[in-house]
Amino acid sequence: LIHTASLLHDDVIDEGVQRRGIPTARVVWSNTVSILAGDHCLSSAVELIRGVDTGETLAGALKSVKDLTAGELMQLESKGSLMVDEARYRKICSLKTASLFVWCSQAGARWAGASDEVLEAVGEMADKVGLAFQMRDDLLDMTGDDRFGKRLLDDLREGRMTLPVILAVEENPQLRSLLE
Ligand code: FPP
Ligand code: MG
Repeated sequence: LIHTASLLHDDVIDEGVQRRGIPTARVVWSNTVSILAGDHCLSSAVELIRGVDTGETLAGALKSVKDLTAGELMQLESKGSLMVDEARYRKICSLKTASLFVWCSQAGARWAGASDEVLEAVGEMADKVGLAFQMRDDLLDMTGDDRFGKRLLDDLREGRMTLPVILAVEENPQLRSLLE
């Protein structure tokens, strides 16, 4: 539910027209519906979690939502800027994408009785998997095809510097003026 909420909002922010091979909710029902449906999913998630645990699981979920929004804000701040380097890109991905992976994994492990040491290791693993997921998603924005159900080059169109572009500019500085 949290993931769905974030994507409903994300497609409004990014003006996304296609997701999972079909028109986005904002195209079919409007931005207003997308925002409200996202809020509804998010509050339903919090209500469900609260029903089973008001301690660490709820606290972790709220932290991950806070991180998701912080990552989106950081990305917005860099919109249209060629100054994003790999470290900043990783920070943005860690917040906007990996934080949800971290919470999901740690919540599952905690409920299975994992020790603090294991929880920390699981968190580290999930952060890396989340980062890998976002890197792949960003690469597919340039190289993907119909199977991935998203319009190509949306990141460039929206002025978002992603890792493939950051590395290409590093390797070939003339690209900078072309992109500008
Ligand atoms: C997709 O990234 C979006 C995210 C990883 C997070 C979006 C988070 C928010 C909008 C903050 C609000 C959160 C909640 C829970 C309401 P992308 O745009 O790089 O990927 P895409 O290609 O799938 O659009
Ligand atoms: Mg998006």
